[in-house]
Amino acid sequence: MKSQELHVSTSVLVIGTGGAGLRAAIELAERGVDVLAVGKRPRSDAHTSLAAGGINAALGTMDADDSWQQHAADTILESYHLANPEIVEIVTKGSAQGISDLERYGMPFAREEDGRISQRFFGAHTFRRTAFSGDYTGLEIQRTLVNRAAQLDIPILDDVYMTRILVTDGRVFGAYGFRLSDGTRYLIHADAVVLAAGGHTRIWRRTSSRRDENTGDSFRLAVLAGGRIRDPELVQFHPSGILEPENAAGTLISEAARGEGGILTNALGERFMAKYDAERMELSTRDRVALACYTEIQEGRGTPNGGVWLDVSHLPRETIMRRLPRVYQTMLELQMLDITTTPIEIAPTAHYSMGGVWVRPDDHSTDVAGLYAIGEASSGLHGANRLGGNSLIELLVFGRIVGNAAAEYSESLTAHVRSADAVDEARKEIDDLLYANGHENVRVLQRAIRDTMTEHAGVVRNEQGLTQGLAELDVIEARITEVGVHPDIAGYQDLAHAFDLKASALAARATLEAARERRETRGCHNRSDYPDLDPTLQVNLVWSPARGIEHEGIAPVSHEIATLMRRPVTTADKLVE
Ligand code: FUM
Repeated sequence: MKSQELHVSTSVLVIGTGGAGLRAAIELAERGVDVLAVGKRPRSDAHTSLAAGGINAALGTMDADDSWQQHAADTILESYHLANPEIVEIVTKGSAQGISDLERYGMPFAREEDGRISQRFFGAHTFRRTAFSGDYTGLEIQRTLVNRAAQLDIPILDDVYMTRILVTDGRVFGAYGFRLSDGTRYLIHADAVVLAAGGHTRIWRRTSSRRDENTGDSFRLAVLAGGRIRDPELVQFHPSGILEPENAAGTLISEAARGEGGILTNALGERFMAKYDAERMELSTRDRVALACYTEIQEGRGTPNGGVWLDVSHLPRETIMRRLPRVYQTMLELQMLDITTTPIEIAPTAHYSMGGVWVRPDDHSTDVAGLYAIGEASSGLHGANRLGGNSLIELLVFGRIVGNAAAEYSESLTAHVRSADAVDEARKEIDDLLYANGHENVRVLQRAIRDTMTEHAGVVRNEQGLTQGLAELDVIEARITEVGVHPDIAGYQDLAHAFDLKASALAARATLEAARERRETRGCHNRSDYPDLDPTLQVNLVWSPARGIEHEGIAPVSHEIATLMRRPVTTADKLVE
């Protein structure tokens, strides 16, 4: 029996109801523009709610010498010169407004006794510039944005899975999808679409993303619409993911734990960061701390379970309860472990897609007219190593900018052109999957992709492994054509998982191909066969199925910012095996 198809029209459709999508939707609604936001999970439980330790802005509340210029310099330096300087300038200059927008919406930031917003140290920042709410910062931001969206009566559908962005003649005219609970189809006509559907870190086995989130949906939606992906190989492995229980492996222990004074030791009791970055120790850059943990484990100084220790038990109990409440609670719930007395066993976990959909720096428009990408779905701010706390501020700053850009685009249109063929293609894609009755199981193939990526494209990579990974992916892609999809009385989740699987396969291919092409070690991308930086690869790698990988030059850094970069960009002492 054919499912019912609902037809909906709006000026701007936002795909994704995490912080980035909601912030863009709020801007549109505040401008009086008709907006609809859709997501595949409840808005209150979007991935943003997991962001823990904080949000960056050079407010100077704790260290008066801080400035947006220094924040920009730290961001570019730690990106190993792959960040787009214009995007960095927009975010760092706009960060104070991002914070005051949140305050205006009612965000409960932690404050000093005199009322100043507190700011903590995060790794590789010159000053304390990470504002926070305990270690529930993302959750508080998400709650704040959900409340503001409710005040503005923004319509939100949070059980609709979008399968296609609809395009004709290189111009967006809406999107197509289905309701997760009962399969009802949605044909949504829109002048512009804002893609805010996250990254692709769930394609690794140990990841800080939960089941069925960050499965590469943005990559697939953008590429099928005619967009391209920038730097898919640049995936941030956070140093501290838990190892157990197996079904929660990779759950994040916030960098706030190190920011508050936590230390890392190996199984021999050595505080090993002294070997890797004696000056910054546990507050070195994420890529270095993650690689240090990985190296200790690989070289046999790890715990029997394959981890190292993160210890905060020397901190006052009161500090832990006030500044690290989520870490405390998470460890009690998942392992019945009391961090005020006992160290935590951790290892690197796939945490953040620093690459994403190719966007223009000023307004995050894409190759497709009327399509914008934002947040973890987009690219350009982080380069090869993201400063912790920069992603939350990015979504505040670019939420506002993209909301305005999409509004202006919509208002500039004099006609709305649609294509019946594009809609039919989207319908047929769902029909084909629903009739698919093959012998392959979607969950098994998702696991196969995660195994391949973990084995061949983890913290340390090499040519042979990446080539082997691509060969394995060829086989998995062939098996995907043989899946069986079986929605049942509980809903259409199986169909959603099948689309997740297609997205993950595309994201895996982009990642493996770009990782093979980047024959150097830079930031998070450690090539054991190419342990040095290659100056000719100080470029972004832009991937699409039609054009393969293109090298894209990066604009020079302004003199004002460059003089504030007081360290050389180097891979020396990274100890790639
Ligand atoms: O460790 C953390 O709290 C993560 C923050 C971030 O990735 O920005």
